This record gives sequence, C-alpha cells and structure tokens, in this order.
Amino acid sequence: MDENRHYIVKLDYEKCVHCGFCTTVNTCHSLNMCIGCLSCYWACPYEARILVKSILDIDNSVTIYVDDKPFKVPRNITVAKALEYIGFKFNSPGFKRPSLACKTGGCWACTLLINGELERACITPVKENMRIKLNIEEYKPLRIVHGPEPHIVGGKGTPWWEVNYIDYVEAAIWVAGCNLRCPQCQNYHVTYDNVSTPMTPDEAAKLVVYCHRKHHTRGIAISGGEPTINREWLIEFFKNVTKRVDVKVRRHLDSNGTILTPDYIDELVESGCNNIGVEPKCTRIETYMKITGISDRELAEKYLETAWEAAKYIYTNYRDKVYLGIGLVFNRELVSLEEIAEAGDKIASIDPEIQVTVLDYFPTFRRRWLKRPLVNEMLEVKRILEERGLKTVIVQTERGHIGPGNRSLRYFY
Ligand code: FES
Repeated sequence: MDENRHYIVKLDYEKCVHCGFCTTVNTCHSLNMCIGCLSCYWACPYEARILVKSILDIDNSVTIYVDDKPFKVPRNITVAKALEYIGFKFNSPGFKRPSLACKTGGCWACTLLINGELERACITPVKENMRIKLNIEEYKPLRIVHGPEPHIVGGKGTPWWEVNYIDYVEAAIWVAGCNLRCPQCQNYHVTYDNVSTPMTPDEAAKLVVYCHRKHHTRGIAISGGEPTINREWLIEFFKNVTKRVDVKVRRHLDSNGTILTPDYIDELVESGCNNIGVEPKCTRIETYMKITGISDRELAEKYLETAWEAAKYIYTNYRDKVYLGIGLVFNRELVSLEEIAEAGDKIASIDPEIQVTVLDYFPTFRRRWLKRPLVNEMLEVKRILEERGLKTVIVQTERGHIGPGNRSLRYFY
C-alpha cells in the first residue's frame, strides 16, 4: 500500500463471516461514507475489508477552523488527513502528542480538541465548521485500557524465578493500539479496540495498584497493544504507579521495543519503570516484515534495529536498576532454526545471562492456518539457544512454559 495515496475501504461480502468485530470492538466513526481512516481494514480478523484507490475531491470542500483560522479541506476525510492537507505535521510515534501512532483509534496519541471535546484525529471525520485546537497540553493524556487482572505467569520481562505457577506474580493492564500489524497478533481484541472509554494514567494506576494490593503481587505490568506509542500517557502511568507502591515493587513494561530510543528509556527509568521486556522477535528483516505486517522496508529496518539497540542500551546502562527480558518468537512457517541461532548469538554478545523467552506462535487473528509448534520443536529452539551460550531460556509451549533446568510449568501467558 502506498501510504501517500488516498484509499477507501469496501466490504468483501464473500470473506465476511459476520463475526461482529467491526460492530463491537473496532467500530466505524463515519458509517454512511468511508473517510479512508482504514481502521476497519487493519482490524478485520477475516480480511474482509479491501482497499480501493480514491482521489481527494478537492472541489467538494468544507471549512474547518484550526486554532481559530479557517481552512478549506476536502469533505469525507479524517481530521488527521485534513490537517496534513493544510500542512500540519504529526509527530512520530513515541514523541509528544499529537502523533499518528496506531491509526485505529486505540492509543489516543492523536487526540485533539475537536468541537470542544477530546477526540481522535485518526478516525474522526471532518465536518463543516468544525473547530480544532491543536495544543492540548492542559489536558491529561488518555488511552483505552483493559484489565487490571492478576497474572500467574507474567511476560517476557518477568523474572523467571519469581514465577511459581501457583501465586499471582503481577497485576497487569493491557492498552489498546499498536504500531505493528502482526497477522498473528495474540491480543487483537485489545489491540484494535477503539470503543472502550479511555482512562487517564492516574485512573489506570489507581486500578492496577489496587489489584496488586488485593492479590499481593510482586509486580505491576503494562502490556498491549503497544504501551510505548503514547509516551506522555505511559510516563505519567509509571510516575503514578511509583508514587503509590513500595520501592521494591517491580514496575514492568512489556514492549515491542520499536520506538524505545535511549532518551525514552532514560525517561521511563526516571519515572519509576524498573523492569522492561523488549521483543525484537527475530533478527532478519524479511522475517520481521512477515511477522509484523510492516510492508515499508525502511520502517521495518528502523523498528528492528531500534528494538535490538533498546535491549543493548537497557542492559548496558541500567543492569543494576532494571531487570531486562528479551522476547523472540518461533513457528517454523515464519522463523528458521538458523535464525534462532543467530538471535542467540546476538543476545549472548550482550550477555549470556540475559533472560530470553520464546513465544510459540499459534493460530490466531489472520493466521489461523498456522499450526502451533510441537513441544519438542520448542525444546529444540531452547536447546539451540542454550548451545549459543544463553543461560536463562524459557520457551512457551502448548503444555506450559519450560524454563532453565527444563523446569516444566503448567500455565500459559
Ligand atoms: S493514532 Fe489515533 S488513536 Fe492511535
């Protein structure tokens, strides 16, 4: 898809199975006329939405007021597109608001004041005489949040020795919106949610801290979706959690690492985050593009490199303060054993003691044809990584997790 073109979306009736995802989880904000936000295109689990090239009808315009200045923009487009049309540049994901980070209505990083209400520029249609305010610094950031729930296993960054598979190890929340488009997304009901009422970081922190106290967990975790794509929200969340809990409580970020630049990591650590799981997933760009659904090679290269660099930076600069876990993935349809060995070498070159968790990709979302790897295949992956010198390898299998010393575990992520 050419990101610079205007597309609209049509329904492919042959593929639609009436699952209800587009009426309950990722809904349309312009039902009578497609505005080309593409949210439903990315979210439909059955790929029943198809892109159709379109042209902006500049003769059919509306007047909008941006910070009180009038502009004529084409009708039937999103607020984001209208602003870009008049030359406004959104920030890159991971920088200050507003940015177009998920474009599916979940992360709220694109929020502006639209006709007096905080609303998402990426999925809201322009209307005649609409009034838009760009600077919303006085308002708290928002984000769609699922949970909190107590968790027995945790994520790739959860220290393996804390997990006994009986007690709750973390109180977790999951936030909507992601900058990747993984066809085997393992949490797509959260990732593509654009319906739930968003929360401020303070509201989410209160709830998750309450869950942590109620279930006596050792850690508090945030996963997604991708937590990092609404930076102001995430930093505020960690500050709010940190001021409410004992210093010994683990405050865990579970991230794909794609936008975790050194300055972002520094800010996270300053705000109280002391446990980070980073998931580069693999080492080769072709594999990464296949796994993440990112078709722009340059962007995929940037994401993959940033994720690996993030792991290195966290370990090099914060190994005494931040517990790091690295996430890889395996399914023989997507990743070869040679590449697993390469990833092992890459991690061992940072430090062989780093905790590594390998997820076994199973059939879900748009890759329901995948066959879940057998337990023996995952044990082979574990053996290969250990042969490269890694000391703390955990593999997810259909029978639970298997960790250092081949300790066999009963529960799944
Ligand atoms: S970019 Fe609009 S909600 Fe994420």
